[in-house]
Amino acid sequence: MTLTDTLNRPLRDLRISVTDRCNFRCVYCMPKEVFGPDYQFLNRSQILTFEEITRLARNFASHGVRKIRLTGGEPLVRKDFPELLAMLAEIPDLDLTMTTNGALLPKFAQALKNAGLKRVTVSLDSLDNDIFKSMNDVDFPVEKVIEGMDAAAAAGLTPIKVNMVVKRGVNESSILPMARFFREKGYILRFIEYMDVGSTNGWRMDDVVSAREIVQIINQEMPLEPIDPNYRGEVAERWRYKDGGGEVGMIASVTQAFCRDCNRARLSAEGKLYTCLFANKGHDFRDLIRSGASDEEISQVIANVWGKRADRYSEIRSENSIPLPKVEMSHIGG
Ligand code: GTP
Ligand code: 5AD
Ligand code: SF4
Ligand code: SF4
Repeated sequence: MTLTDTLNRPLRDLRISVTDRCNFRCVYCMPKEVFGPDYQFLNRSQILTFEEITRLARNFASHGVRKIRLTGGEPLVRKDFPELLAMLAEIPDLDLTMTTNGALLPKFAQALKNAGLKRVTVSLDSLDNDIFKSMNDVDFPVEKVIEGMDAAAAAGLTPIKVNMVVKRGVNESSILPMARFFREKGYILRFIEYMDVGSTNGWRMDDVVSAREIVQIINQEMPLEPIDPNYRGEVAERWRYKDGGGEVGMIASVTQAFCRDCNRARLSAEGKLYTCLFANKGHDFRDLIRSGASDEEISQVIANVWGKRADRYSEIRSENSIPLPKVEMSHIGG
């Protein structure tokens, strides 16, 4: 039976963060001043084991989850990550995918494919090394990320999607070069409005470049037209090049909230379930599972949590609202 929340939204999509660690320090996600050498990351005993993750994932699948996206931090820094994939790949009828910064894809792409991963989404914010390095803040070069995408494509992890967060005054100048480049390559580029996730990135509305503005910029050089979503509740709004040269996506979470169809739950590496990207509290499944709960008991808790859900943060966000402490992006993977 399909679970629905208080706003009649089903649970279809589970995003699982497998680690809170990352080999990048993107300024909008893990700023160095906060995530420095003294930052206390979760230790091994605090994070869910592969067996625990798989058990929970199966239970969510029995409640109607049809897509599992693995995230981080950076999922590829979790030890033996392909083994987890192989375990999850045994769950039937699942779109199994992941979001990665691409740095380790040249090394892992084939192993990920062999383990049963279907496709990948790779984050890249600019083709200009000065800009990209100033955003990832660890001096990581553009070429290596592209090498990772190409390794994923060669391994058959397609369609390849590319996520670009746009921050005003930082990488707006990269919008057109990115659009041209990925149109040529045939990877689906998606522009993400910079969001007020977490409490450490110092977000201001002025930093947001709206999806509407991005469409205008591209449209002037390469005319675009809107196309229908692939499925109800798809996060990215799809646009196609009028000359048939592929498509791009706009993720306009700030200026055009899409909470109405939000069917996503997020499980953090330490086993907390968040029913919104902007939540400040999650429901603990780690203690539940470690206290010996049966599958039926776990199933009941999932049903209770989702049944009570009323989140619609992006619809009610206002510049004047008092900022509550929110979970960090690196804990729930976006
Ligand atoms: P596919 O359509 O399966 O390719 O996935 P997707 O669009 O969910 O892709 P992805 O996970 O890469 O999401 C892209 C980005 O959109 C995320 O990293 C977030 O930044 C943002 N996003 C995804 N889901 C939500 C959501 O529920 N709320 C908000 N506000 N932003 C979201
Ligand atoms: N606003 C928008 N997108 C963000 N991401 C990380 N932090 C933010 C933010 N504050 C993106 C990453 C990646 C995905 C997981 O979320 O760039 O593509
Ligand atoms: Fe790491 Fe992704 Fe966050 Fe960048 S956005 S710091 S790559 S988790
Ligand atoms: Fe879903 Fe929360 Fe994002 Fe709205 S703000 S779309 S409820 S995750």
